[in-house]
Amino acid sequence: MENTTLMQAYEEKIKRVLITEEEISAAIARAGKEIDAIYDGRPILLVGILKGSFVFMADVCRAVTVPCEVGFMCAKSYYEGTVSSGVVKITMDLQQDISNYHVVILEDIVDTGRTLSDIVKMLRLRNPLSLRVIALLDKPSRRLVDFRADTSLFTIPDHFVIGYGLDCAEQYRNLPYIAEYAEKEK
Ligand code: PRP
Repeated sequence: MENTTLMQAYEEKIKRVLITEEEISAAIARAGKEIDAIYDGRPILLVGILKGSFVFMADVCRAVTVPCEVGFMCAKSYYEGTVSSGVVKITMDLQQDISNYHVVILEDIVDTGRTLSDIVKMLRLRNPLSLRVIALLDKPSRRLVDFRADTSLFTIPDHFVIGYGLDCAEQYRNLPYIAEYAEKEK
């Protein structure tokens, strides 16, 4: 295929923008203020769940003013497509001992809830000073386990979404907005 055809096929999959860059940055500014108010000068550890949270983390960490460190864990539940495998695998763990930290987990999306439910259980066993979860997106209609983030910036319907860290088969993470992915008609 020629480059222009490849590019066209790539762009055609971006069905429509669901959340604009401006809406995202306004929500992040609010989340930063909320974190500052909750921790009120106490140092925090922001924990990003990779890969999806890398863009969200970059923006949230710059929106807070309390003393802050960052850490990452890598979890994987989807493979190569738009369907969840149902298995959550931790492929990279945190480096920090979290027992002296107020931990704030940052996640791009809560879908079935499995990833965060497992990660929260795992991190609670390590006795952090406190633990909160902030999710960029919440898709409650897809929930299979009982899990709610402490804060969700946007609640979305059951569309497969890409951009701002979220992928389809690893592509589209770099879109600056959140869009609906054009799936094949079922
Ligand atoms: C996605 C997303 C969340 C998880 C949410 O990650 O980033 O971590 O799925 O789904 P759940 O609520 O059904 O568990 P994915 O496994 O696609 O890995 P990625 O972050 O590398 O894209």
